[in-house]
Amino acid sequence: MIVNSVVLKRTFELHKADYEEAALRALNSGWYILGKELETFEKEFAEWAGVKHCVGLNSGTDALILAVRALGIGPGDEVIVPANAYIASVIGVTENGATPVFVDADEYMEIDADRIEEKITDRTKAVLPVHLFGQSSRMDKITEICRKHGLKLIEDCAQCHGSTFRGKLTGTFGDIGCFSFYPTKPLGAFGDAGAILTDNDELADRVRLLRNYGSRLKYRNEINGVNTRMDEIQAALLKVGLKYMAEGTAERKRQAALYQAELKNPKVIIPPVYAEVDHVYHLFPVLVDDREAFLAYLKENGISTQVHYPIPPYVAECYAEWGYQWEDFPYAARYARQEVSLPIYAGLPDEELRYVIDVINRY
Ligand SMILES: Cc1ncc(COP(=O)(O)O)c(C=O)c1O
Repeated sequence: MIVNSVVLKRTFELHKADYEEAALRALNSGWYILGKELETFEKEFAEWAGVKHCVGLNSGTDALILAVRALGIGPGDEVIVPANAYIASVIGVTENGATPVFVDADEYMEIDADRIEEKITDRTKAVLPVHLFGQSSRMDKITEICRKHGLKLIEDCAQCHGSTFRGKLTGTFGDIGCFSFYPTKPLGAFGDAGAILTDNDELADRVRLLRNYGSRLKYRNEINGVNTRMDEIQAALLKVGLKYMAEGTAERKRQAALYQAELKNPKVIIPPVYAEVDHVYHLFPVLVDDREAFLAYLKENGISTQVHYPIPPYVAECYAEWGYQWEDFPYAARYARQEVSLPIYAGLPDEELRYVIDVINRY
């Protein structure tokens, strides 16, 4: 049997008629940028999260860059970020000329909230947790630290749409929540898209200006902005995705429960999940000592998987000047060497999932 790690066409086909209708509606409207589709998506996404403002953008990376910029963070400032995450949150900091300060992960693969305070200096302006794989970071501790030290809180919610910590939705704890709607995400577009959520009127206004050449009225540029607007077609498609997001999440949770119940191989470790978190399983990570051999074995059996992420951002080539070594952050280094993401997505047939379990149990 061939099992691909993700087949987006299957997720699309679950609600194909709705998506086609939405795409055609946007096309037939004759209005493609900053129109009714985006306006209504922003309203619906903000309502879904229970916050005042959503601002639709071109990507999750731009959401992070503009969030940091809108908070006035720049050269000379430090932002605390996890050592084991996707590089985009670090780019959000470096694109503004600020300095990322890394904190190692904990055994749950999230930023180790107990080690944040020791990294705070008089230059620290914000903490930027990344809710990885669909699990919220420890938001009780992180919000308490931010309050105590007067720091801004920026959440990277690219992988955690709908995940909660003690019943509160990720993306609503801090000053600003940054979302990606990259096609594979729990709420995925059919191209690039992203957004920020905030309750802060001024921040929302600033991101709205920044995304549109710094302009509110055409040809009047109040601040130095960029062009990073979510287009009307993506907004129309995302409204369909939002309608079915809970259904997709329930399906991935069911698949995760199957893995948890039936994966029985001491060589394949399933990391623990915080008791306070409702995990939405954007991904299903496992840890394997000899990853190369394991991946080769899966491949021989027709199974393709992904690795999130093979090179931690602090040792990324583009940041070589910082001089970090892999072992500076032992948990992050271990995850980068051992993590494997098993197939999990709405539309994955149960027989494929059971085949993956069976193959792994025979490893
Ligand atoms: C944790 C995380 N942050 C940020 C991003 C960047 O989002 P985008 O690809 O929409 O720019 C991604 C993913 O792609 C991500 O996984």
